[in-house]
Amino acid sequence: MSKVFITCALPYANGPCHLGHLRSTYIPADIYARYNRMKMRDVLFVCATDEHGTPIAVRAEEIGKSPKEIADKFHKMIKNDLDSCDISFDYFSRTTDPIHYEISQNFFLTLFEKGFIYEKVIKQPYCDECKRFLPDRYVEGICPHCKGEGARGDHCESCGRHLDPIQLEEPACLICSSTPEIKESKQYFFKLSHFGSELKEWIENNHDLPLNVKNYALQWIKEGLKDWILTRDMEWGIPVPLEDAVGKIIYVWGEAFLGYISSAAQWSKKENKPWEDYWNDKAIHFIGKDIIYHHTIFWPALLMGYGCKLPANIVAGEYLSLEGKKMSTSKNWVIWASEFLEKFDSDILRYYLVVNAPLTRDTDFSWDDFQRRVNDELADVLGNFLHRTFSFTGRFYNGEIPEPSALDEFDREFKERIIEIPDLVSGYIEDFKFREGLIEIIRLAKFANKYFNDKEPWKTVNEKPEDAANCLYLCNQLAKTLSVILTPYIPVKAPEIMEIMDIQNFEGLKWENAADFLPAGHKINKAKPLFSKIDDLIIKKEKEELYNNLKDDDEMKNIISIEDFAKIDLRIGEVIDAERVEGSDNLLKLRVNVKEKKLQIVAGLAKKYSPERIKGQKVVVLVNLKPAKLFGIKSEGMILATSDNLSVLSAHNAEIGEKIK
Ligand code: 2FM
Ligand code: ZN
Repeated sequence: MSKVFITCALPYANGPCHLGHLRSTYIPADIYARYNRMKMRDVLFVCATDEHGTPIAVRAEEIGKSPKEIADKFHKMIKNDLDSCDISFDYFSRTTDPIHYEISQNFFLTLFEKGFIYEKVIKQPYCDECKRFLPDRYVEGICPHCKGEGARGDHCESCGRHLDPIQLEEPACLICSSTPEIKESKQYFFKLSHFGSELKEWIENNHDLPLNVKNYALQWIKEGLKDWILTRDMEWGIPVPLEDAVGKIIYVWGEAFLGYISSAAQWSKKENKPWEDYWNDKAIHFIGKDIIYHHTIFWPALLMGYGCKLPANIVAGEYLSLEGKKMSTSKNWVIWASEFLEKFDSDILRYYLVVNAPLTRDTDFSWDDFQRRVNDELADVLGNFLHRTFSFTGRFYNGEIPEPSALDEFDREFKERIIEIPDLVSGYIEDFKFREGLIEIIRLAKFANKYFNDKEPWKTVNEKPEDAANCLYLCNQLAKTLSVILTPYIPVKAPEIMEIMDIQNFEGLKWENAADFLPAGHKINKAKPLFSKIDDLIIKKEKEELYNNLKDDDEMKNIISIEDFAKIDLRIGEVIDAERVEGSDNLLKLRVNVKEKKLQIVAGLAKKYSPERIKGQKVVVLVNLKPAKLFGIKSEGMILATSDNLSVLSAHNAEIGEKIK
């Protein structure tokens, strides 16, 4: 039996799960794990909470608790959130487990002994007020690459780049806000630069890697790989296992990956089965797109250095916005998993988050759209088909699947589609195209409703009983097939369908047998409604609650004076040239004529505007913006556009060069 090792990115134990986490990582991974089990593959599906690192240390400091106390609390909460969403891990561990410490320290030591980790004295920000070095999140400033504000010492949210804390412009200590000084300290580096060509080859030749992952990874490699600092001067973390490294810990990203292994190792201990067999057969990581860099560059390089098989695939889910706005936990513009799942079934959430958009695209959660899909698709299409099939069978055939006779062409077409659907859906799931699989299922349920309507069994049951019997025979078969192939998607409701159909042993149901027909005469149980509609009032209330969170934030608190406004030089410009910025799916490089001069502007509009579409447009340009470099390209101004929808402000009747006052 082939084996699969499936992992989900380890959630930081510093906050509960929200719908974005579920959409990008946990639900897709769970569908994949459940599907593989039904394909009779031996699955090991693991995860853990990521409990070290500055986010937790900073949070602990802010609220006067120990990092472990925070981690304990959130480990419990996160586990609960994931359980409520029916994520079927075989093991869910913690990176504070002693086994994890042991595995991580051994991994570090092996790399050190093999010469892939070396010592170097470097300059680091040091806060004289707090009397300590400021690793990662302890320092904030402006990103040297994209000029994004609020970039952290290790990572810039705006451009996604990995940073070195001393690169930050205008740095400030996160705890006391003072400007850090630069001091020297010995650290340990991983020879990432050594692995550039090997990584490139691995990524280029891995034809299974989804394109969004591959493109990002190759772009980073093209920029060149620098050696990677693997240790920190701080208390909270796994001690560097070397004698002269007192007070130093392994950087959280240097050990978090090992959480995949240490979680599996604990499972091994419990089950008495070697996790290595699973890893060596096929390992697949499900992650969010913000950590593609880490999983396609750092992790494989560490594994190459250690001498271990690389993962077979990395699947990265893109972002989820909320009601058209970027989710933000600090602004409370977020829906927490636990709050949602207290009110709604996990299956309808799983359904909506999968059907909403392909995993490889950013998408939006909106309450209205959620209601529409649940009501129109789950209730009206799927629920209606199942309910009419079961109630009709109960009412006219005493609950027994009727005997079919000669099928007409329409029956045969329907039968064919029932037989084909498991393979169709399976093909999509194997390709991580979970949405496409689900859409095929709904499409067939729609077709089945039309078939039922056109066949009018409520008439033919008296006038032409063989026709009605054929119809109900086939509808029951589809219901059974659906109950099997929907299991990975909606693992609570699908077994309920089986229960109504009195299909025993649904735990052990095989995908291969999904389209095997039940015999005529098989008795089903009484129909009961499976999917109900969500009332307008409920949605209204949810929206009100959510939008209330925005109020405080949106009240115009940033008052500026007329003098401040006068400093802003806005002009009408015409885009005379436009091209995409290579390697970025956001950016366009534009030439804009504002009459007095022509400006080169790099604008984040590529998701909405193609170069052809923006070319020739009259736009509003901020012309006295301090020039900056984006993706290494000089940008001398800013095009005004709305922040969420990226709609460019325009002024058709204005003259080029006209000032806006
Ligand atoms: O970005 C994050 O949320 C990290 N906690 C993910 C770690 S995944 C891997 F390294 F294990
Ligand atoms: Zn940046």
